[in-house]
Amino acid sequence: MKISVIGLGYLGTTHAVAMAKLGHNVIGVEPDRARVQALTAGELPFFEPGLGEALTEVIAAGNISFQTQHDALSAASDVHFICVGTPQIPGQQSADTSYVFTAAKELAAAMNPSSLVVGKSTVPVGTARELIARMQEVAGFVPKLCWNPEFLREGTALADSMLPDRIVIGSDSSDYNQVLKACYQPILDQGVPVLELDLETAELVKVSANAFLATKISFINAMAEIAEASGADAVKLAEAIGMDSRIGKSFLRAGIGFGGGCLPKDIRGFIARADELGVGDSLKFLKEVDQINLRRRQRIVSLATEELGQVKDKKITLLGISFKPDSDDLRDSPALEIALRLQALGGIVTVHDPVSLGALEQKSSGLISETDLQAAMKDAELVILGTEWAEYKKLDPATVSSLPRFKTIIDGRNVLNVSSWQEAGWRVIAPGRNIVND
Ligand code: UGA
Repeated sequence: MKISVIGLGYLGTTHAVAMAKLGHNVIGVEPDRARVQALTAGELPFFEPGLGEALTEVIAAGNISFQTQHDALSAASDVHFICVGTPQIPGQQSADTSYVFTAAKELAAAMNPSSLVVGKSTVPVGTARELIARMQEVAGFVPKLCWNPEFLREGTALADSMLPDRIVIGSDSSDYNQVLKACYQPILDQGVPVLELDLETAELVKVSANAFLATKISFINAMAEIAEASGADAVKLAEAIGMDSRIGKSFLRAGIGFGGGCLPKDIRGFIARADELGVGDSLKFLKEVDQINLRRRQRIVSLATEELGQVKDKKITLLGISFKPDSDDLRDSPALEIALRLQALGGIVTVHDPVSLGALEQKSSGLISETDLQAAMKDAELVILGTEWAEYKKLDPATVSSLPRFKTIIDGRNVLNVSSWQEAGWRVIAPGRNIVND
């Protein structure tokens, strides 16, 4: 099929490459000229394992090209995927849907009436129906539209796209769904289930899934607060409750909490939308989910302050700065926020990260970036693990023991083997646990 993918961020780039890998003819449309040039040269504008290789492969196969706006060829595609961002409006809780409406209007002015428009961006419920009306005003016909939310995670984006847990399609017509299902046929042939829903339910599936995941994380972090106050261990608690198959063990990792470009802004946008719909009480609990999450960042700052006496002029090293491993995404990163708060308290903060230091450079944060792990840890008075990159999980505590001034580590992600670090002479502090150090 001939496909256009509008918006080439994490979602759009991954989706465009995935569609090209399925054998479709893909045109990626994105106004940012530098990004289009980079992608055309086979360079990813962000870090995502395996995606760069796949991009090179589909470029070589002649299945993909990139351009800054629609032309006759892209406008004549069989399917147009809208993948633009919906960031939080600065100073507000709501999602900014203006990029979605702008992309849809530009498309409506150019597109063929027979082609299918598919929304993949995360939007407030009700957006798709409004989009149909606004596109109709521009196009002069009712556009065929499906809502098809995406559930990919950064770090495993391509694998999630090629083999998702489910495909959700919302629309007003099963005829539209047939076209989209044909587009995903190789994926469906692998047994991936499809759910055919109305537009509103499809939109809601995405935000409610992210709200549920955020709630699970904040639930275990609330238990971490209880554990800290009562002498219990939230990691062992999570293991025990997670063995109940009704609860499940995933997304129960206590620590510094969730961040990134999705979960935080999606729960806030969801709260704002519920208010607009007159059912704000239904999602009041999500405000607590947000608050619990944000408190975890401050908790690490408090633990650091307790440990050091005062932060001012103390050398602190953060291991990991991205919001999660296998990503260089710094959006709403808990680790980065902790580093900045410690710096604001007068700490001399050095950060190490396997891939995110380039992205940090652009922020002029004033943090000291160190590409060499040994050099980053050398002379530190406190080490904080902020992102659970494999290279930190694999660290041999004995090998790094001679480096810091005091051997104290705060395991912000609860991933280290506490006893082996203690045996190597370290004091280990971990949120939600009451670790006894001799
Ligand atoms: C999330 C969802 O998981 C995807 O399904 C969704 O498609 C995506 O948002 C989106 O809306 O586009 P992502 O933000 O890439 O994906 O990352 P997650 O794996 O969900 O992690 C989010 C945050 O939660 C990270 O900061 C992670 O460190 C934290 N987390 C995760 C915890 O603190 N504890 C856990 O147990 C799990």
